[in-house]
Amino acid sequence: MCGIVGYVGPKRASDILLAGLASLEYRGYDSAGIAIAEEGRVDVTRRVGKLANLSAAVAADPPAGVIGIGHTRWATHGRPNEENAHPHTDCAGRIAVVHNGIIENYLELREELVAAGHTFRSETDTETIAHLLESLYEGDLTAAVAAALRRLHGSYAIAVLHADHPGTIVAARLDSPLIIGVGEGENLVASDIPAVLRHTREILVLEDGEVATVDANSVTVVDRDGAPVVSERMHIEWDLDAAEKGGYEDFMLKEIHEQPRALRETLRGRVGDDGLIQLSELDMTDEQVRSIDRVFITACGTSFHAGLVAKTLIETWARIPVEVVVSSEFRYRDPLVDDRTLVVAITQSGETADTLAGVREARQRGGKVIAITNVVGSRVTRESDGVIYTHAGPEIGVAATKTFTAQIAALYVLALYLAQTRGTLDREQIGGIWAHLQDVPGHVETILSDLSAVQECAAVYKDRYSSLFLGRGIGVPVAMEGALKLKEISYIHAEAYAAGEMKHGPIALITSEVPVVVVATASDTYEKVVSNIQEVRARGAEVISVATQDDHDIAKHSEHVLYVPEVPELLSAILAVVPLQLLAYYIAKYRGCNVDQPRNLAKSVTVE
Ligand code: G6P
Repeated sequence: MCGIVGYVGPKRASDILLAGLASLEYRGYDSAGIAIAEEGRVDVTRRVGKLANLSAAVAADPPAGVIGIGHTRWATHGRPNEENAHPHTDCAGRIAVVHNGIIENYLELREELVAAGHTFRSETDTETIAHLLESLYEGDLTAAVAAALRRLHGSYAIAVLHADHPGTIVAARLDSPLIIGVGEGENLVASDIPAVLRHTREILVLEDGEVATVDANSVTVVDRDGAPVVSERMHIEWDLDAAEKGGYEDFMLKEIHEQPRALRETLRGRVGDDGLIQLSELDMTDEQVRSIDRVFITACGTSFHAGLVAKTLIETWARIPVEVVVSSEFRYRDPLVDDRTLVVAITQSGETADTLAGVREARQRGGKVIAITNVVGSRVTRESDGVIYTHAGPEIGVAATKTFTAQIAALYVLALYLAQTRGTLDREQIGGIWAHLQDVPGHVETILSDLSAVQECAAVYKDRYSSLFLGRGIGVPVAMEGALKLKEISYIHAEAYAAGEMKHGPIALITSEVPVVVVATASDTYEKVVSNIQEVRARGAEVISVATQDDHDIAKHSEHVLYVPEVPELLSAILAVVPLQLLAYYIAKYRGCNVDQPRNLAKSVTVE
């Protein structure tokens, strides 16, 4: 969603805001803007399109002010044009607001404010906040923001600037991330950590309903009742390098290559000296684990596909029925959750609004909620009973790659732990699986060491308009993820299907122009997958198979083969998805697409 940054200190604010917005651009990129307070005025510069347009406009006439707020937008209310770009101002142009989230009652507030004489210039919900503040302001900006929050329904993170207070930013949040970067003689406000890391590693995470008054030398936080809050500081260990491209052409390619490390970090320390899987984060007694009679997994997008992989793992190893439900459906379907239900919420960002709503719903019904996330201190970590972190490092590319495979690694640990505690696998079986799992990061390195086959294949199919992805068993979610990656970043239509179901519809789409990507790694259903390949080839399709090294037969049935090392079937998901990530990446590159910032998408979706 949208990115927010604010700066107050001794330096030229516009430089710091633009650099901060650059590190947040993955959150939204249909327009951007900054507001700088100077000499009793607030000056706003906004541009449609990428941040480069705003940077060029600012460079033409750089403002000297040392305090400002900035925003990069992912449109929700109102088209992506300059009027709708943030910051938004009040009638007098003395208050500027940037906002991430949605104000649900904005129409009602807008009518009220228009009736009181306010003139609106945009279609956005955000502009309502600026006019509301104008109507409530009586000389104390923090008090005006606190009063405004009492009128706003929805989810928001906001930062506010007022010409009368040229040394202060007031920031507040409800259901949308917002942090304060605490520096030496300067302070920052941001929706995400990379925006402040150049200046400080000391972070305060604002909680829901809190209002922060940020000056160059102080940060004062009050709760929704106005009572002072002592926020806990976090020290960020990872550095900006981890969030920069490090020699790769794009973040996505860098993050694909970071997967071996992300997997090793996520699996590290999970087996004790006694050979047992350790998962203290679950925070459940063995008795409670044994009493689980149902698992729900709730997630969106790529994280949902990790959940589908986990269903097979948990059902096969721990013998517990698992239902995987997209978060936007989960909360509205009166889910059958009670105190014997384990709910696993998978969200790399920890901020996805629908997944958070599902977590709340599950806990209200007495379910035990465990979150799998990549972001320390994110919202989901504070709303769940336990957290398993994926240690993938910051992921900037909008299309998730390393967080996906790291989620699957964390889910292997969870599934094995459940099986161990419930006695459905013995120590020897777990040890055997674990030994193979330890080899997976090295196998990913092998796949990444030779990209020639996937590049060749991408060059052949880059201009197709549609494609089909097939798999069976654990290969189905892999096919789904491969199709999602391709459509997200290359804009080629891609549809994933269980290979056996393909004859019941998608086969009608097959022509020689529609390539079929098949997950055909070694499995109990391998022969059946080969039959499905023959069915599509008989109708003229060209086939790209992802197959196990040394499977020479598959080459007879496929135009292209992307090989992966051999592992037991249930461990194959991580390996099989890597060539599909790469295929999507190179096809998108060869088509000239912006792989890190695909159109209309956002890295974390903080609105429902
Ligand atoms: C957005 C992103 C996807 C991501 C999904 C879920 O759609 O573009 O890459 O998979 O949100 O995000 P989460 O942070 O909950 O895993």
